[in-house]
Amino acid sequence: MKNIILCGFMGCGKSTIGRKLSAKTDMPFIDLDRYIEDKAGITVKEIFEKYGEEKFREMETEACRELSEKEGLIIAAGGGTLTFQRNIDILKKSGRIIYIDVKYEILCERLKRDTRRPLLQVENRNEVIKELLEKRAPIYKKAASVYIDGNFSTNRVTEIILGILYIS
Ligand code: S3P
Repeated sequence: MKNIILCGFMGCGKSTIGRKLSAKTDMPFIDLDRYIEDKAGITVKEIFEKYGEEKFREMETEACRELSEKEGLIIAAGGGTLTFQRNIDILKKSGRIIYIDVKYEILCERLKRDTRRPLLQVENRNEVIKELLEKRAPIYKKAASVYIDGNFSTNRVTEIILGILYIS
């Protein structure tokens, strides 16, 4: 069975929805960031601080490679994962990429108290979200084979995705 890969911007609900999908389908859930952290023994934030973003991106690609060799997983990608063509190529071969599209205002609200994501520990957080979102949204859209309007509760979005998985 193919993997299901959830992609979208930070705060779009990939991990929460992934966990809910896993509970409903019995497909194991893997969060890519947690997978990287478990392997490295330190947090994503610490990886950025100690070794820089480029090193994190290498570890991310390695994690994509390892997970793409497995089957039947629900994988929550990181917000930046699918912005690299090499990761798109790897993940596309292993399963269906689902893009969860959530609008700027909701993302800002969900991310306003975040302390965990290195790219958002800046004074002008909402501007950074806006810039990155504008750059990334078309890339997510192109990489994914399924588009989901994610501007609902995570329970509702989970149901929408389940509906699509069962009919197709
Ligand atoms: C990132 C998103 C994060 C994490 C890292 C970089 C990004 O994942 O991979 O902080 O570039 O958008 P989440 O989308 O799960 O927060």
